[in-house]
Parts: sequence; structure tokens; C-alpha cells
Amino acid sequence: MEDLEALERDLLAAVAGAEDRDALEAVRVLALGKKGEITSRLKGLAEISPDARKATAQILNRLKDRLGQEIATRAEALAETALSARLAAEKIDVTLPARPEAEGRIHPVSHVVEEIVEIFAAMGFVVAQGPDIEDDFHNFTALNIPPEHPARQMHDTFYLPAQADGRRPLLRTHTSPVQIRSMQAAPPPYRLIAPGRTFRCDSDQTHTPMFHQVEGLVIARDIHMGHLKGVLRDFARAFFEIDGLKMRFRPSYFPFTEPSAEVDIGCRRRGDEIKIGEGDDWLEIAGCGMVHPKVLRHVGLDPDEWQGFAFGMGIDRVAMLKYGIPDLRDMFEPDLQWLQKFGFRPYDAPSLGRGLGR
Ligand code: PHE
Repeated sequence: MEDLEALERDLLAAVAGAEDRDALEAVRVLALGKKGEITSRLKGLAEISPDARKATAQILNRLKDRLGQEIATRAEALAETALSARLAAEKIDVTLPARPEAEGRIHPVSHVVEEIVEIFAAMGFVVAQGPDIEDDFHNFTALNIPPEHPARQMHDTFYLPAQADGRRPLLRTHTSPVQIRSMQAAPPPYRLIAPGRTFRCDSDQTHTPMFHQVEGLVIARDIHMGHLKGVLRDFARAFFEIDGLKMRFRPSYFPFTEPSAEVDIGCRRRGDEIKIGEGDDWLEIAGCGMVHPKVLRHVGLDPDEWQGFAFGMGIDRVAMLKYGIPDLRDMFEPDLQWLQKFGFRPYDAPSLGRGLGR
């Protein structure tokens, strides 16, 4: 009997002292497992005298029940402590700011190209592309600028070394060769824009050797200059987000259009500052005209059947105007601070519905 009381004390103490589930399980095996203290004593009952057997069996069974209960209670307590510890460790401060803001910025030129595409796409235009490295035919001859034409000098062309056949590839001096490539690639009608890089050997405050233009071309059977004026007017009003923006078409000359015009928008100048949509001054934003019959013939179209208009606009220029960027040359410097200031957040995609600008 002494021995059983001591056993009970020891086992209960072991249960109370078990610090985690594994330790508690070890105590259970020690007491109630197949070869445990209580189990083996219960098995041993057969060997003791029938007189003592009943009393000992009662004590052992009570001890067995009590220990089972104590272990269950202890297990519950341990589980609760473990859960509280885990909750404390995994605590989240929901008042902290969410992820840090994305660092990268979209270059204003890329953003403005997307704005331009958005506006013309709404008028049913598609986007066309051509190579930066062009040949003489597409950049000049097909556009009615034959060799020795003075316009070739005006373009300050970058030439590449001559190829085996003697031809010299060049960096396109305007996006107009995409007119030719697009008309060669598919039958009319056409209603396309072609934004992209252009190159001229020229560098000062308002010129960089690489710059961007967007070309426009519309050819069908019934297109006239009224369509050209309407398209450019609607574009400028949408792009600058000014409803009554004034616009004028000044007679001009391009070898590949006839008649030709330069397009000005109304502005006010004060010192270096230019304010679009106010004042009595004018600012040139594009060249345009009705596609020259010779250009149409170069791509195999009959000018008596097909006609239309083309325009070319400087993208960097309108980007600077719209977003108050002071110096053209900064646009193409690898300057992260400048990009932080004038660039656009990656999720600020322009849309006519939600607004184009900032
Ligand atoms: N390609 C001309 C330029 O670079 C612009 C232009 C395009 C003019 C289409 C008329 C028609 O100056």
C-alpha cells in the first residue's frame, strides 16, 4: 500500500511537471503504456493473494482513472499556453502601412505615347510600326524626296557604313517611312498612327539627336482636308484636355503632301513659360497635308481612286508642354531624380474614361 501511495504521488507530480506535449506523453506511457507502472501492476494482480487482490485492484483502477483525468486536464492547459504563445508571436499590426510604394517610374515620353494611342484608338486608328534603321527608298525616295533634293540636306541624316551593294542604311529622320511600309504591306483603306524614335544629327536646347514622332495616315476613297482638320482638332482638345482649344493651319511645304500645312495651337508666352489654351500666341505642334499623288503611285495606288491625309507630330515637344518639363535634353539623361519628379507611377495607365494625365 505504501508503495502505491508513493507511486501515485510520483506520477501526479510528473504530470504536473510536464512542460510540453511530448513530456506529458512520456509520463502517460510510463504509467499507462503497455509496459507502464500501472498496467504491469494490474497484470500482476493474478499473483497476489485473493484477499488483497480486490482492494489493490480498486486502488489501481482509481489511480488509473485519476491519472487519465489529470493527463487530459494538463494536456488542455498545455494546448492553451501553446496557442497564446503562438498568437503573441504572430501578432500583426494592421495599422502599419501596406507594401512600400513601387519605386519605378514610367518615362513621360512612354506615358504620352500611351495617351496619344488611347485618343486615336478611340477614333478607330490602329498602331503601325517600322524599323529605326531605314533605307533610302522608304525614308526619302518613296516620299517624293529624290536624290539631290534639298530636303535631304535639311534632314541632317545619320548614315551607316555602306553595304556590299553600295547602299547606305540610315537612321530614319522621321516616322513618315512607316506610311510607305504600311501601304506596301496591305491594301487600302488605312487609318493608322505610328509612334516611334527618329534621329537627326542636331543638338541644342530644343533639339536632341534622338527624338520621338507620331505619324498619322488616313487613306480611303472619300477623305478630304476637312477630315484632317477635324481629327487633329479633336486630338489636341483631348490631349491637352482643353475644350475650346484654338488651332490654326498655316500653309507650308513637305515633298510628300500637297497641299501641306503646319498646325499651331493657341497659347500665351510669359518669359520662358508657355500656357496652352490662353492668350493670342501660337505654338507649332505638327506638320500635315494631303498625301501627294506621287507617294500613292510609289506604293502602287491610283491617286484618282485613293486619297487621304498624313501628319507628323513631335512627341517630346507635346510631352514637355503638357507636363511642364523645362529642358528637352533632360528627357534623355539617365537621371533618376528627374524621373522621380516627372515620371508616372506604373499603375497610372492613361484612359479616356478615367482621365489621361496625372
Ligand atoms: N515628316 C514630317 C517631318 O518630320 C512631318 C510630316 C508628316 C508632314 C506627315 C506632313 C505629313 O517634319
